[in-house]
Amino acid sequence: MKRKDFLAQVGIGAALVLAPVCFGSLTGCKKTSTPPTNVDFTIDVSTGALSNNGGFLVKDRVIVARTNSGTFLAVATACTHEGTTINYNATNNNFVCPNHNAMFNSSGAVTQGPANSNLTKYNTTLTGTMLRVFT
Ligand code: FES
Repeated sequence: MKRKDFLAQVGIGAALVLAPVCFGSLTGCKKTSTPPTNVDFTIDVSTGALSNNGGFLVKDRVIVARTNSGTFLAVATACTHEGTTINYNATNNNFVCPNHNAMFNSSGAVTQGPANSNLTKYNTTLTGTMLRVFT
């Protein structure tokens, strides 16, 4: 096999391997940051990550956090920059993206770029130990 033919076959093979990864979604290789709509779920906060102040968890693309003062927050998990899943920082009571370090306050508003739009915030109500998160 000639070098030119070999490189052509390798190139086509690599493209076929990568194609499902990059073209598997409407947004290609870039992660989506579309926040979930019609959110409505309930979590028992008597156990698990939300049983202690400062804990957080992700459910249905929503990050639910329990602040150090015991109140609950819920925002979309996808960073508005490129869609990376954010984390909750209880010490600063804010949300931080581990990818490019964008920061959002407890209401989901951008406090540090490169993100330039706010996170979608969801409502929370606590009844006994059951926390409802909803739009
Ligand atoms: S993806 Fe979050 S700051 Fe870039």
